[in-house]
Amino acid sequence: MRVLFVASELYPLVKTGGLADVCGALPLALAQQRFDVRALIPAYPGVLDGLRAQVTRLRMDPLFGGAVRVVAGLSETGTQVFALDAPHLFARKGNPYVGPDGRDWPDNHLRFGALSWMAREIGLGRLGDWRPDIVHAHDWQAGLAPAYLALSRDRRPATVITIHNIAFQGLFPADTLTPLRLPQSAFTPEGVEYHGKVGFLKAGLHYADQITTVSPTYAREIQTPEFGEGLDGLLRHRARQLTGIVNGIDAGKCNPAADASIAARYTATKPEGKGANKAALQSRLGLQVNAAAPLFCVISRMSAQKGLDLLLANLPTLLAGGGQLAVLGNGDANLETGFRNAMTANPGRIGGVIGYDEPLAHLMQAGADVIVVPSRFEPCGLTQLYGLRYGTLPLVARLGGLADTVIDANEAAMHDGVATGFQFAPVTTEALGNAFTRVFELYARKDAWRQVVHRAMTRKVGWQEPAEKYAALYRSLVPPEAV
Ligand code: ADP
Ligand code: GLC
Repeated sequence: MRVLFVASELYPLVKTGGLADVCGALPLALAQQRFDVRALIPAYPGVLDGLRAQVTRLRMDPLFGGAVRVVAGLSETGTQVFALDAPHLFARKGNPYVGPDGRDWPDNHLRFGALSWMAREIGLGRLGDWRPDIVHAHDWQAGLAPAYLALSRDRRPATVITIHNIAFQGLFPADTLTPLRLPQSAFTPEGVEYHGKVGFLKAGLHYADQITTVSPTYAREIQTPEFGEGLDGLLRHRARQLTGIVNGIDAGKCNPAADASIAARYTATKPEGKGANKAALQSRLGLQVNAAAPLFCVISRMSAQKGLDLLLANLPTLLAGGGQLAVLGNGDANLETGFRNAMTANPGRIGGVIGYDEPLAHLMQAGADVIVVPSRFEPCGLTQLYGLRYGTLPLVARLGGLADTVIDANEAAMHDGVATGFQFAPVTTEALGNAFTRVFELYARKDAWRQVVHRAMTRKVGWQEPAEKYAALYRSLVPPEAV
């Protein structure tokens, strides 16, 4: 079966968050299940440089203001990619969504409209020898793809849309309708309209045959006003087509037994090397080299979603318990300043890098004892999965994908030997503070801690199981003779 992914990010070609990790790795896991998956992404600067074995497959002139072509190739990790080379839309350096002034590019509707339009063309067979059975759109940037396909009169492939984050919806003024080649008749609440605007994600959720999101708990949460960001009514209406499938991680790239970015290799049965990573991380960040101090880390975009203000508010508790903190992240200016100030005020106890650094992220996963993820909402979350894999116990808010992937070290779970980390609820400063106390208590019980680390490291977090679930979903959408 052939599946076309449509997405705005794909690791290692372009990444701002977990969406890229998923779109880079899931096609490879589906290939193991004998699916032929290709991913259509924008050719931002650098994307074509990272593609091997390039072949131009299609040219179109004009598409939304300029000539474009589709370049097929292979990413460094083996994902089959169709890059939409549209210099008038994508030949801009920096962040994929935001210009140098920190604001969204003013023509984002055309940029991602063009991506979806090209998905439509490929979906309708414009490549000739490669016609997908399924078009699988990811997030708002690909939201118009299911709409364009549903609105075309031709025989079309089945469509799926995955919500990675409902907080970003791609809302544009009503007068973008015509430039986006959408018919006036589609501008209703039973179409692409969202409160007087064109809603890209709304359109995808309305027109796609199936909707998925990246954890079962988030699938339930987004049907409520608290988490639905205004789309909960539509999602309740489509509840029978909505499922949650937890993400995996690339178990090959993220493997403490083979990771070239860390100071010493280790496994669940021989975890001793983790101590060498802790010492290496402490000295790299200017922390006191002290094996006995519980070392917490954060690897995160700094945005309101991630709840890092609660961590800042709890630094006195963390320090009073003898803990250290390693920070890696960037984003919101106030949060960056908060963590910079904390580092300056607590030399040897709090250290880190305000920025983006992939090798350091690996060393932190290997060297820390605990990874803190206090999100206000979290569709899935990947860093807690890396934490499990590296034996760095996740301390997470009990919601979204965090609730579905971490088993709290409560009495019963400890008794049954199934605990893998710590959960707290509600998402308040006080509840996080109480969780720190529980971490310190368990850390003092060395054997119990080791048991939880072992359990965390042996838990399955790869892509095989999620890929099987996507495979079953695709099969349910396509007549058996196509499979
Ligand atoms: P989100 O997509 O909401 O940012 P996820 O947990 O799904 O959250 O994915 C975040 C991804 O980005 C993970 O692979 C994480 O390791 C990585 N990441 C986040 N911040 C940084 C950073 N400052 N440096 C390196 N990697 C980072
Ligand atoms: C989004 C979500 C995150 C999820 C990622 C990949 O960025 O914020 O929770 O893990 O997408 O699905």
